[in-house]
Amino acid sequence: MIRGMVGEEMAESMYILGIETSCDETAAAVLKDGRELVSQVISSQIPTHQRYGGVVPEIASREHVTHLSSVVEEAMRQADIEFSQLAAIAVTYGPGLVGSLLVGVAGAKAMAYAARVPLIGVNHLEGHVYANFLHRPDLRFPFLALLVSGGHTHLLLFEGHLRYQVLGRTRDDAAGEAFDKISRALGLGYPGGPAIQAAAAYGASAAFSFPRAMLEPDSLDFSFSGMKSAVLNTLNTAAMKGEHLDRADLAASFQQAVVDVLVRKSVMALQRTPSRTLVLAGGVAANQALRTALTQAVREIDVELVCPPPVLCTDNAAMIAVAGYYHYLAGDFAPWELNAHPALPLRFAAEP
Ligand code: KG4
Ligand code: ZN
Repeated sequence: MIRGMVGEEMAESMYILGIETSCDETAAAVLKDGRELVSQVISSQIPTHQRYGGVVPEIASREHVTHLSSVVEEAMRQADIEFSQLAAIAVTYGPGLVGSLLVGVAGAKAMAYAARVPLIGVNHLEGHVYANFLHRPDLRFPFLALLVSGGHTHLLLFEGHLRYQVLGRTRDDAAGEAFDKISRALGLGYPGGPAIQAAAAYGASAAFSFPRAMLEPDSLDFSFSGMKSAVLNTLNTAAMKGEHLDRADLAASFQQAVVDVLVRKSVMALQRTPSRTLVLAGGVAANQALRTALTQAVREIDVELVCPPPVLCTDNAAMIAVAGYYHYLAGDFAPWELNAHPALPLRFAAEP
């Protein structure tokens, strides 16, 4: 921590460096006093992985090795502070690709040790939800979080900082994974979410009727595999008959099916909880159709929708720094033995 003069009073500025390398973005960000983002650098590997149609783990970890130092240096340069001025370094230690996580964890440990500042381990999924505290530090508990990323789909009831229950989760594919797989099948490329969204803009969402699995009547779990198979079957059947299908219509109809399920389950969860706020998080939260549909749905039940700007929905280090800040306040620091944990569960989670 450092001290600076503000008017007549001494004011403390508290800086946290966040580091994120769980998948295909090498990212660093510096957060001041828990809410002011003073720098944010994201080096995306998307162009590298695009030619393979998806993330190649071995290449991802090598790319992180190549870029981590310069990304962190640039974040510190933009923040205009020294390492010794940091209150802590927060790093994603799971879930994610083990080789990618290891690069961030090893790098963060080395930097923290050299600068003699504490280390904080952050769960990537918590980070996604905490992105919302950047633009809404006044966010009140309890709130419901719909976390939709490439690897996870969860409905979480947050009762306090870093205290939450899992109300529902996917039983098969994550929402983002479904977008990625269908995009590949439609030949739209990687990453699938933005590609489907772009194609869907020219298609009719009612052109095809894909199943919306709601599971048991009271279940808040998700299942996207039936929907995904229905799209693939439609494609295969048309190919066998030599029929041409409009890819934009397929993309729009698939996107609508995913959005419908996410909206319906979120509304069901809101009706069962005391929360009057729905927080959106994760890469799929960048989807415009989802944001629009949720905005309308929650308005009807007098609930407020909070969602981060798209750049803070997909992977970034600002969200890791914010979550790190709340771990810092809780005195929750990591030992030097902190290790990458590719299947890290939601730590504070308890089934309701
Ligand atoms: O949170 P994220 O960046 O990484 C993980 O933690 O997984 O999420 C990546 C996922 C990918 O599956 C990507 O296709 C999806 O988010 N995604 C989108 C959009 N932008 C990214 N899905 C739908 N619409 C988008 N605009
Ligand atoms: Zn993520």
